[in-house]
Amino acid sequence: MATAKESRVLPEIDMAHLPQHIAIIMDGNGRWAKRRGLPRTAGHISGTKTFRTIAKYCQSIGIRYLTVYAFSTENWKRPQEEVDTIMRLLGEKLEELIASMVEDKVRVKFFGDVSVLSPRLRALIDRTAELSRSIVDGCQVNICVNYGGRAEIVRAAQRWAEMVKSGTENELDEAGFGALLYSADIPDPDLLIRPGGEQRLSNFLPWQTAYTELYFTDVLWPDFDRSELHRAIAAYQQRNRRYGGL
Ligand code: FPP
Repeated sequence: MATAKESRVLPEIDMAHLPQHIAIIMDGNGRWAKRRGLPRTAGHISGTKTFRTIAKYCQSIGIRYLTVYAFSTENWKRPQEEVDTIMRLLGEKLEELIASMVEDKVRVKFFGDVSVLSPRLRALIDRTAELSRSIVDGCQVNICVNYGGRAEIVRAAQRWAEMVKSGTENELDEAGFGALLYSADIPDPDLLIRPGGEQRLSNFLPWQTAYTELYFTDVLWPDFDRSELHRAIAAYQQRNRRYGGL
């Protein structure tokens, strides 16, 4: 929860009409570090702390789903040292999450092809999945790792083709297709936040964001805090969601 001092300064939001699902592209770690004359990896370390703060806060105010882009299918092109640091941070974060998931009522899911990750990371992912099965309410955090939105859609189409071939399914609609995506069973994001100044989706949840409200800010992810989250939610609460109607 916000401290008393913080609640005085946090931009006002309507707690009764929060977005159910927030998606975040955690961008700007590298630039944050560069501006301070630090290696890019320092930006990821700081970005991981921001993730912890924002995830805990979302959970404390009752956001049901939080989906974050941690590593895309394209991020493998980065220098090996940077990839190794992100994977190490992910492992540390998972260990920390595992220790508190049941008590904090946080379910963790992974979106993306995690089969290529290290055996240690896969073991941690399996453990979070196992613990998540016993947590029915609370907040669900979806961590996108080795995730690409188009790859997700192709994977779903392949799964569909298999089902048709084996005769288990032959009629396809949007709900049926959505059920073949990593995000099966959860509502689409209401609000997508991209810090870091870029205004694009970068292959993040292209199917699921068809009607999502988008919020862009120049603040770099390591500097993103509860006030910034409130600002994003306040902007969302000003929007008029029409879903194609009037
Ligand atoms: C984008 O900033 C950030 C990433 C590619 C990595 C995000 C990963 C973490 C915050 C750590 C691990 C994740 C979790 C869930 C604990 P950038 O490097 O592209 O920044 P730039 O645009 O300034 O270069």
